[in-house]
Amino acid sequence: MTIPIAVIGGSGLSTLLDHASATPITVATPFRSVEVLIGELGDRTIAFVPRHGAGHDVPPHRIDSRATAWALASLGVRAIVSTAAVGSISTAHPVGSLVLVDQYLDRTHSRPDTFYEGPDVQHLPSAEPFCPQLRDLAVETLGDDVVVGATVAVIQGPRFSTRAESRWLASAGAHLVNMTLYPEVALASELNLGTVTLAFVTDEDAGEDAVPVDAPLVFARLREAKPRIVDAVERIVAAIPADYRARTAVDPEAVARVLQRET
Ligand code: ADE
Repeated sequence: MTIPIAVIGGSGLSTLLDHASATPITVATPFRSVEVLIGELGDRTIAFVPRHGAGHDVPPHRIDSRATAWALASLGVRAIVSTAAVGSISTAHPVGSLVLVDQYLDRTHSRPDTFYEGPDVQHLPSAEPFCPQLRDLAVETLGDDVVVGATVAVIQGPRFSTRAESRWLASAGAHLVNMTLYPEVALASELNLGTVTLAFVTDEDAGEDAVPVDAPLVFARLREAKPRIVDAVERIVAAIPADYRARTAVDPEAVARVLQRET
């Protein structure tokens, strides 16, 4: 089975496909097994993985992004459309915006973030961590419905930032804050998969003049926005050409060796 497009659903997008017609499969990986739902989104067949698990029971720091990337690569996925809930620390990205993210600041720790632990050593080029080609086609498709470009600070979580951290992240150049986009995008790249990420701004983080973020606020705003998020994801998926290939970030032979590892 080869499925070239995957959607990784963030918070608020634990369900996407019609469960009556979709097929759940379990993909064994060298890390842990991954539940993947195969089904139709519009007229494209996709692989869907809810990032936090179907019951939203995996916290950000426990997500096994190596397992997800490996499982998707083993199904023949080449393009990942991911969604993420984010807080905003920039006036250019107001609450309610859909944003195509283009850079990250990694503020996580203790998360396995490479497939190449030696003797295979790979130094992933990361100047453009998200796929510019997929982002360009998402921009063309979504037009004014989306804010283009943002640096997301990925914090360790599961707690939200203090006011001081929020100010400091903004002064470091971040526009948005999230807990999950790293190492997911880097690990996908290490297997030569391209990622476009559609972020939805749920809150103003610990912002000085704003209501400080908490989880009920995030989930309430995600519930309300779900139809917009699903519509945007479906339009991006529809626009991905059948012959899409991500840039070759890593020697394909090294990738093949990773995918041959015992499960
Ligand atoms: N996800 C949604 N809002 C967030 C915030 N303010 N900080 C980190 N992750 C988030």
